[in-house]
Amino acid sequence: MRVLVTGGAGFIGSHLCEFLLEQGVEVLCMDNFITGSAENCAAVRDRPGFTFALHNVTEYIAVDGPLDWVLHLASPASPRDYLELPIQTLKVGALGTHNALGLAKSKRAAFLLASTSEVYGDPLVHPQREDYWGNVNPIGPRGVYDEAKRFAEAITMAYHRYHGVDTRIVRIFNSYGPRMRLNDGRAIPTFITQALTGAPLTVYGDGSQTRSFQFVSDLVQGIWKLMHTPVNDPVNIGNPYEMTLLDLAKRILVLSGAQSEIVFRPLPVDDPKVRQPDITRARTLLGWEPRVDVDEGLRITIDWYRQRLHA
Ligand SMILES: NC(=O)c1ccc[n+]([C@@H]2O[C@H](COP(=O)([O-])OP(=O)(O)OC[C@H]3O[C@@H](n4cnc5c(N)ncnc54)[C@H](O)[C@@H]3O)[C@@H](O)[C@H]2O)c1
Repeated sequence: MRVLVTGGAGFIGSHLCEFLLEQGVEVLCMDNFITGSAENCAAVRDRPGFTFALHNVTEYIAVDGPLDWVLHLASPASPRDYLELPIQTLKVGALGTHNALGLAKSKRAAFLLASTSEVYGDPLVHPQREDYWGNVNPIGPRGVYDEAKRFAEAITMAYHRYHGVDTRIVRIFNSYGPRMRLNDGRAIPTFITQALTGAPLTVYGDGSQTRSFQFVSDLVQGIWKLMHTPVNDPVNIGNPYEMTLLDLAKRILVLSGAQSEIVFRPLPVDDPKVRQPDITRARTLLGWEPRVDVDEGLRITIDWYRQRLHA
């Protein structure tokens, strides 16, 4: 099997490339390093079957040779990144997805879109099932990401229905693990970095908003299972274990042994108040469910950050 991974030098993409190589898949990783890095690919750079192409996928994508899959992960993903890169985020979700689909069609390859739980916006239905259409503010600051992904889903379904491309849509819920950038602004890297450097942990609002965090190895397994199951409708992949952000901060303090205090900051605009996947579809159709519990995943992640900060 030969696979293109766009965004392969990012947090999730690099774990996916590593996993695919372990399954004996040939991997072409494509990235422009706008939020990813060559360092993320260090573990796989010299492995047989791995090649890298520096390319912005909002431009036409040319690939020599056959492809069985196009896995389209390229997109800024943390709120800090997409608020700083609003146009690039919209372009990669729209033009980048169009180019990646065009490539899949011309190679007769299957296509997988890395979508997001953010398509549900600030949800009025809880937990979120795939048939919920969402509550997104199209003109708010977060709209650049949410609407780009909603467009990406729409064009993916259009290529499936109109051109017959074999497509998958994975709606990824908050994921974490080694290789998230220390300063990417997402809650887990921020709290861990603050805890390990003795800084106060900054919780937005009163910390009662909830999230459900999945460890990256569970996500990669879910993507692999979805590739092998002919489901063209979107599938939530996430860990239904829901916790408040205040609980998360406290847990990270305990697991890291840090003495930092917790301080509260104003809630960002349109910050979702709740987030929890309904994973019935993944359970029944893919036979998938998460295996790594939050304490285990956080311990692995804290160890990785500790090594990075002391390197
Ligand atoms: N991390 C999460 O919790 C999460 C949740 C939901 C969805 N997702 C989706 O998963 C994917 C990967 O997210 P991540 O957390 O690894 O983010 P990331 O920022 O670490 O990785 C994204 C990668 O895409 C690359 N990229 C961005 N624009 C590009 C372009 N125009 N051309 C080529 N490469 C480009 C970046 O350089 C980076 O390497 C994204 O599509 C994101 O929307 C992630």
